[in-house]
Amino acid sequence: MVKVAILGASGGVGQPLSLLLKLSPYVSELALYDIRAAEGIGKDLSHINTNSNCVGYDKDSIESSLTNAQVVLIPAGVPRKPGLTRDDLFKMNAGIVKSLVTAVGNFAPNARILVISNPVNSLVPIAVETLKKMGKFKPGNVMGVTNLDLVRAETFLVDYLMLKDPKVGQEQDKTTMHKKVTVIGGHSGETIIPIITDKSLVFQLDRQYEHFIHRVQFGGDEIVKAKQGAGSATLSMAFAGAKFAEEVLRSFHNEKPETESLSAFVYLPGLKNGKRAQQLVADNSIEYFSLPIVLQNGSIASIDTSILENLSPREEQLVDTAVKELHKNIQKGKSFILDSS
Ligand code: NAD
Ligand code: LMR
Repeated sequence: MVKVAILGASGGVGQPLSLLLKLSPYVSELALYDIRAAEGIGKDLSHINTNSNCVGYDKDSIESSLTNAQVVLIPAGVPRKPGLTRDDLFKMNAGIVKSLVTAVGNFAPNARILVISNPVNSLVPIAVETLKKMGKFKPGNVMGVTNLDLVRAETFLVDYLMLKDPKVGQEQDKTTMHKKVTVIGGHSGETIIPIITDKSLVFQLDRQYEHFIHRVQFGGDEIVKAKQGAGSATLSMAFAGAKFAEEVLRSFHNEKPETESLSAFVYLPGLKNGKRAQQLVADNSIEYFSLPIVLQNGSIASIDTSILENLSPREEQLVDTAVKELHKNIQKGKSFILDSS
């Protein structure tokens, strides 16, 4: 059984994520940490009659929240408002993630760290460089959570198929579309690259294909706009984050993943990966990319790069555009740690 800690547990993402993980049979202890209100939230959830213990920790108790944690989720930080990009959140969230990951390095050095806070493309490099500096970095243990992009791709693919041809749309099942689509790249705008693995569906989508790509890339903006200043995705993120965490937890028990083509934004050097991924690193000097992962005992055992071998010309174009932006995002994160004393 596994102790899971959530850092930023009182937020819009943190609260429903905590609830969903309180329902998980794979969690034995749930530690909820935040700089505000986490004790009350922990007490509230502790009345739920699932078998895990749930405790909330106040801002001075991060050590207790992390001690013996095997999985740490980080949804702490500021969300977007209309008019902001994820990159605009960097100045607020970089320091928060640096300090939380430092605490993980000190008090739970073997924990798997799942970074939800934005901008994921820069904050994962911050987490990695922070741990490297501390001499605590293990390549398979740090994952940027990009699973909301896959959840969206599954939903929108069916929506657009329905629009194109209701007969084809009705044949689909949104909950199993991960067998037909995956998402790689990064987690912001044009760095998000949906790949339809069942190529017959690209043909079916016809002119809706470009609309589908755009909607997956900019799905986050849709929610920011609809919430009118009250934040960004919270409930759908909690669902996607809990699903992702549950796959990590299942792998502790050698259980087969439920989601095919589950991706995460990862540090490529040091992980077992294919020739095409090595080429991606060499050609573009980018060390991070979201790719399908193979989990073992809670960590990434290898990356499945086969997706990169069979890209269509349009998908290659999407990769080319993505790497340019990703390169900047990654450098920004790395410099934040490497240029500080
Ligand atoms: P929110 O403001 O509702 O919650 C953030 C929480 O973090 C608050 O409870 C706050 O007290 C806490 N916090 C701030 N500093 C902290 C610290 N040093 N230690 C512990 N807790 C701290 O925001 P939200 O809507 O929950 O979003 C949180 C983050 O998740 C944002 O950066 C958002 O962009 C990101 N997000 C990512 C994805 C994704 O797909 N990866 C999806 C949705 C949201
Ligand atoms: C999302 O994709 O919904 C999140 O990254 C939140 C945001 O800022 O859009």
